[in-house]
Amino acid sequence: MSTTDYKTMTTAEIRADYLKFFEEKGCKLYPSSSLIPDDPSLLLANAGMNQFKEYYQGTKTMREIGATSCQKCLRTNDIDNIGDARHLSFFEMLGNFSFGGYTKADAIAWAYEFITSPEHLGLPKDRLYFTVFENDDEAIELWHSHGVDYDHISRLGEEDNFWAAGPTGPCGPCSEIYFDQGPEFEGEAPGDDGDRYLEFWNLVFTQYDRQEDGSMPDLPHRNIDTGMGLERIAAIMQHKGSNYEGDVMRSLIALGEKLSGVEYHASANDTDKSLRILADHSRAVTFMIGDGILPSNEGRGYVLRRLLRRAVYHGRLLGIQGAFLTTYAHEVTEVLGDQYEALVENQALIDGIISAEEERFGATLNAGETMLQAELEKLAEGAVLSGEVAFKLHDTYGFPIDLTREISEDAGHEVDMDAFEREMEAQRDRARQSANRDAWGAANNVWAAVSDHIAETEFCGYDSDVAEGCKVLALVVDGEEREVAHAGESVEVVLDKTSFYGEMGGQVGDTGSIASDSARLEVSDAKHHEGGVVAHVSEVVEGELHVGDAVTTTVDHGRRELIRRNHTATHLLDAALKRVLGDHVSQAGSLVSPNRLRFDFTHFEALTAEEVARIEGMVNAEIFAAEPIVTKVMGIDEAKAAGAVALFGEKYGDVVRVVSTGDSDEPFSRELCGGTHARNTAELGIFKIVSEGSVGSNARRIEAVTSVGAIEYVDERLAGLDEVASSLKCRPSEVLTRVEQLKEERADAEKKLKAALVGGSSSQVSDAVSAAVDMGAYKLVIARLDNIGGKELRGVWDTVRDKLGADCACVLASVADGKVGLLAAGTDSAVAAGFAAGNVIKEIAGHVGGRGGGRPNMAQAGGSDASGIDAALDAAKSLLNA
Ligand code: ALA
Repeated sequence: MSTTDYKTMTTAEIRADYLKFFEEKGCKLYPSSSLIPDDPSLLLANAGMNQFKEYYQGTKTMREIGATSCQKCLRTNDIDNIGDARHLSFFEMLGNFSFGGYTKADAIAWAYEFITSPEHLGLPKDRLYFTVFENDDEAIELWHSHGVDYDHISRLGEEDNFWAAGPTGPCGPCSEIYFDQGPEFEGEAPGDDGDRYLEFWNLVFTQYDRQEDGSMPDLPHRNIDTGMGLERIAAIMQHKGSNYEGDVMRSLIALGEKLSGVEYHASANDTDKSLRILADHSRAVTFMIGDGILPSNEGRGYVLRRLLRRAVYHGRLLGIQGAFLTTYAHEVTEVLGDQYEALVENQALIDGIISAEEERFGATLNAGETMLQAELEKLAEGAVLSGEVAFKLHDTYGFPIDLTREISEDAGHEVDMDAFEREMEAQRDRARQSANRDAWGAANNVWAAVSDHIAETEFCGYDSDVAEGCKVLALVVDGEEREVAHAGESVEVVLDKTSFYGEMGGQVGDTGSIASDSARLEVSDAKHHEGGVVAHVSEVVEGELHVGDAVTTTVDHGRRELIRRNHTATHLLDAALKRVLGDHVSQAGSLVSPNRLRFDFTHFEALTAEEVARIEGMVNAEIFAAEPIVTKVMGIDEAKAAGAVALFGEKYGDVVRVVSTGDSDEPFSRELCGGTHARNTAELGIFKIVSEGSVGSNARRIEAVTSVGAIEYVDERLAGLDEVASSLKCRPSEVLTRVEQLKEERADAEKKLKAALVGGSSSQVSDAVSAAVDMGAYKLVIARLDNIGGKELRGVWDTVRDKLGADCACVLASVADGKVGLLAAGTDSAVAAGFAAGNVIKEIAGHVGGRGGGRPNMAQAGGSDASGIDAALDAAKSLLNA
């Protein structure tokens, strides 16, 4: 290898230099978009180009020649490979993008300049290799024109050099840049499996829009999409061979070394792998929660949960004691928080969620281990543990297979891995089928088609229930677009503008009516479809409606008013929760309907009655203060600067509505919100929390009511109280005293009843005492007592002792509700004379299906077989020679 001396750069330096370089070329700098893509068909952001999909498709245009970004990405298609030296789940991708603004020749020239120029990466030219798509002669000539030798350029097929984010959508041939690590690494040529040639930058010439049917029409422009893995290039620029050796990942590995006491690269490979998995997964988990993803059993929440659990498990394998994952999260924030402010802003939330989930999974591991031990105990010596059991532990209980193997092998049992793999394969098939759904590309439904030719519906119902002069743009009947809808038909109507609020952000859709000159429709719901198109779910009551007709939309006034109030109430509630519980509270979901509101938020324990009361009181104080609701439309940056609460993980446009209570600088509540609101908090009248409970492990749910709903709620509760009062024959204010009094009377009555049952006045008991057998040193009572509970037997013994004095003993059997109680007891002198209560009970309990024992002076047992009572007492008699 001729050139080894190239410069060293940190991750932060590379990132900053790359973005500046492309900004200077005229690209607009974009912040990374959230890991939650703005694209319902994509599960997680997986490439820099995701946020620019609409620019590629030509539905949006950019003023600048293109864009550049450093994007948070997450790829988990191969989660089991993560931890080898190459794979990462979360990674940062540097990219530059053109949507017709600059060409393939520019992209290649700039890439070459950036990697070779001494002012930037300055990588030695003889260590750079390039691959192109099989027939892309143009790319070969472009690289060659900058001085790349032909023998450093090779052609690769579709699998390597054709790139798409998913099965449909923008895609195209690509050209990749490789760095030669030197002959001491294995590998023959770029694109093979070896580590010698490391691919670090992919230039995609995005020019097709692949459709569901496989056809690939051209995109409106020839585009550029490039992606350079930051961890990969950082490792190269730091003269290291693996993604995990760059400064950022290495600092996380170092933390693992510190926590576990295990040294990286010192011993067995397995511990290295665990250290890498911890570094990777903890970073992914921190970023995911920072972007508003919460653990769950489906979709991205499931990905998060799996990563988090795998991290906890590998921590155990390394022998880290106690909870440790938040320590990693802090290190991630320390290292990357400058670049990604969501990590800093949401630290409390990240900590809370990680701790709760880590604790739960710790319990799962313990439970799984108990289950596994039980299965192992059932096995004959040396027998194999079935793959189905191992799979069930893995799949249902989240208990990792490695751990199953380790524990089983320690106990001398192999695991049937073939059967386990078969189960896993079947599960992967199921997962693949559903993954297709996650890939991006327009969903094949009528609404995708409608949104292609119709722009966003304008909402003009903030201040009025009625909108006139709206135009019918589309009619959808039974999933198909139509020109006309007739009386009696159900139809979804799309208009250019409307006073109907389409269900969004938890606020339910409006109901009401649509009328044209020739038709009248009743609207039962309004829904948002792709591209902001609102569909009015309607029934044609009269006449016929045509595309192109002018209509008037009228929203049900009363219902809308109730919705407005409940929406404002969710804002007040959110603000009160943050004040009472802390800043980790973040809205996790909501429902705003006319009757009630539901608000889910992140918090880790049940609210106390006092907290609930304070929250309710705070909201009501705002209502009584009669603050006007002030809505301002402003730029997103201005809104954030004004302290408006943005919804976690939500995307906002450049211009937003900011809803505040009052117009002071620091209002009680200020949120970004597109919903409809009361004009003044006083309209809410009164706010009552109806319930508080948990939803999932990290979130709570509050249901509440306002105005009419609150009055109904209070009326109902009061009516209930009135009923109780009338049944107790007292005034409502006296109910509590009356109930206390009743409780006392009842306790008294029970006492008397008990005395009657077990005391001397009970004929059963006195008969038993008179039948006492004289044993010489003591008197012995052996008796069966009906309708007495086991608990009462001690009282009977007290009575026996009262009557017979210091030298007595008893063996009693009772039966009530099919349950048998046995009691043997003796005074000191009886015991001294040989009476042993414990032995008696031990001998006779089997007759009534029970077990028991005790001390020589007192022993008890329970049983379930009353038919054995006589036999039990007989056995006692013969045992005692009575
Ligand atoms: N979008 C391309 C990739 O992810 C650049 O490789």
